[in-house]
Order: sequence, then structure tokens, then C-alpha cells
Amino acid sequence: MTDFATDFAITRTTQPKPRPSDDSLTFGTVFTDHMFVMDYDEGPGWHDPRIVPYAPFPMDPAASVLHYAQAVFDGSKAYRGQDGTIRLFRPRKHAERLNISCERLCIPELDVELVLESFNQLIKLDQAWVPSKPGTSLYLRPFVIASEAFLGVRPSKRYTYYLILSPVGPYYAEGMNPVKILATDEYVRAVPGGTGAAKTAANYAASLYGAEVAKKAGYTQVLWLDGVHHKYLDEVGTMNIMVKIGDEIVTPPLNGSILAGVTRDSILNLMRDWGLKVSERQISIDEVLAAAETGALKEMWGTGTAAVVSPVGELGYKGRKIMINGGKTGDLTRKLYDAIVGIQYGETNDAHGWTQVVAV
Ligand code: COI
Repeated sequence: MTDFATDFAITRTTQPKPRPSDDSLTFGTVFTDHMFVMDYDEGPGWHDPRIVPYAPFPMDPAASVLHYAQAVFDGSKAYRGQDGTIRLFRPRKHAERLNISCERLCIPELDVELVLESFNQLIKLDQAWVPSKPGTSLYLRPFVIASEAFLGVRPSKRYTYYLILSPVGPYYAEGMNPVKILATDEYVRAVPGGTGAAKTAANYAASLYGAEVAKKAGYTQVLWLDGVHHKYLDEVGTMNIMVKIGDEIVTPPLNGSILAGVTRDSILNLMRDWGLKVSERQISIDEVLAAAETGALKEMWGTGTAAVVSPVGELGYKGRKIMINGGKTGDLTRKLYDAIVGIQYGETNDAHGWTQVVAV
């Protein structure tokens, strides 16, 4: 059946899938009944926004995304509060970031209002899929791929925008227990002038080998160091990184090689609201090690939409193992987690106006 509830054509599924129980949710393995699709062609631009049943799609084997990785994505979440209200967290910032990634990958700009409408309409249609157990949410994965069948190396002339939704639990098997990260100077994720700040598929492909090496050594993720000196902290696998040394909280600046995390920005805002000393500055692995020696290294945590606020309990580097806060979640890490989650689920005052109600 096709109807036109908004400007979008909506084709509803005739075979709704069984929904998983909230208790069984992990990250990114189940998908809702529908997806949003929109095409781009030179001339008409972006056209035919539509919601269709979630399904595999045919693709030309010569589609340039398959050969040259011209692809971007983003990730945000919808949260169901205890009263059933569904809220998005800073959706406009996510839609704008998708466009920033598009620009870096020579993908034509999307209409931010239309992207926001795609979030709203698809969530409304599949709202029964938004889980309600604390710590669970509905992950939104918008992405754009180059769909022209062409093997020359130049920007594609055709693209497709998709939005898929996935009910999720914790990103890490550790849940809120501290993760172990390994700093490496053998592999790099990004270099100045490269694509490190864009949410593009190739950045994640480039990270896989180093991440597997870390996993084999017993670590959850890699702490990437800068691509030139192999010295300054960049980011962790799927998170931005923050370190508390003495009473200063340090996070690497947005230097073009790291992702401008929405959770990073929100956490920095909260800490500044609380009057904490927060620095966005270069921080070297040597400074972190020296702070560990003197006992000044108090806490370390990662921030990200998928990972939320994730405590780091152990840092590995060149055969050394550094325990942070005795391998336990620090007080500030816990306070930040509680604060941001409280806002996201509508349980505490949203002083910055970050949440947006999608459905009640
Ligand atoms: C997110 O936090 O939304 C991410 O994009 C991480 C993802 C690569 C799993």
C-alpha cells in the first residue's frame, strides 16, 4: 500500500518482522520494518524521497562506491523516556555533520530540513521498535553512497541517501564496565589534510587492521596517535577521548584529523557548565604516561553516540600496561554518563535544548 502522509511516498511493509526483546539487544544487528531512500542525479538534484519496506537493494557491480569508497554516514539515537516519549538528541547537529562529511567526499549537499524530516517520519512509522529498557535506544544510521556505474576516478554523478534504524543495547560487550585501549604508533588512522574529520567509510576500513592487532593483544579498541609524530592523542576506535590529569580535563582539539563528536561537544559543554577546568589542546602519550607515574592521571573515558560515555580502565603502550583509577569507573566519568543519559531520556532538565520530541 502506498500513501502520502507527508511529502514522502510511504510504502508500508506487508510483512512486519518480529521485534527482539529489549533484553537481547546488542549493537547494530537488527533493523526495523522500513527505510528511507532518496536519489540524486545531475540535473534534478536530490529527488524522490520515499519510505519503503527495509530490504536489500540491487546495485550495479560497477557502482563507484564499491571501488573508490565514496560514502559517508552518521549516527544518532532516539530514546524512549519512562513516560513513553521518544526524543532525538541534537538531530540538527547530526544532519549538519552529515553534510560536512558529504562536502569532504565531493558528495552533493543534502537539504538539512529534509534529512531531519527523514529522521522524524521514519521513527514515527517504526516507533514501536524504539526499546524502553534503560540503556537501550533506536540507532539512526543515515548514509550516502555513490551509485553511478562508472570505473573512472572522479566524483560520481548519481548518489543514494538511505536512513536505516536499529534498536540497540550497549556498543561494547563490557557495557558500562571500563574498556582497555592500546595506543599504537605502528598504524595510523588519519593524517593532516586527509579525511580524518569526515565520517566516511574509508576511515573505518583504514582502522580495522590496527584494531584487530589490538584485539589479539586483549584490548577493546585502539587509541590512535597523530599520523605525523605518532605522539599526540587523536581518538579511540569509535569514540573521542578525554583524560583527567590533576583537576584539568584534556581532550584533543578538532584539528581536522579527528571526528567532531556530538557527544564530545555535549560533554565539554556540561563540564564547562559545572565550572570544571576543560582544555581542548594537544596531549602527548608521554604526558599521559608521566601523569600516570606521578599519580596525576585520574580518569580517562571515551565519548560517542554509540559508546555514550565509556570509562577506560587500562591503557597499553609499547608493552606497558597502565591501570587508570584502579581499572574502575571514575566519579567524574560516572557523573557525566548519568548527566547525559538523564537528558537524553528526558529525566533531567535539558538546559541547552538538545532534545527534540518525535512522538509521545
Ligand atoms: C557512532 O557513535 O555513532 C559511530 O558512528 C560509531 C560507529 C562507527 C559504530
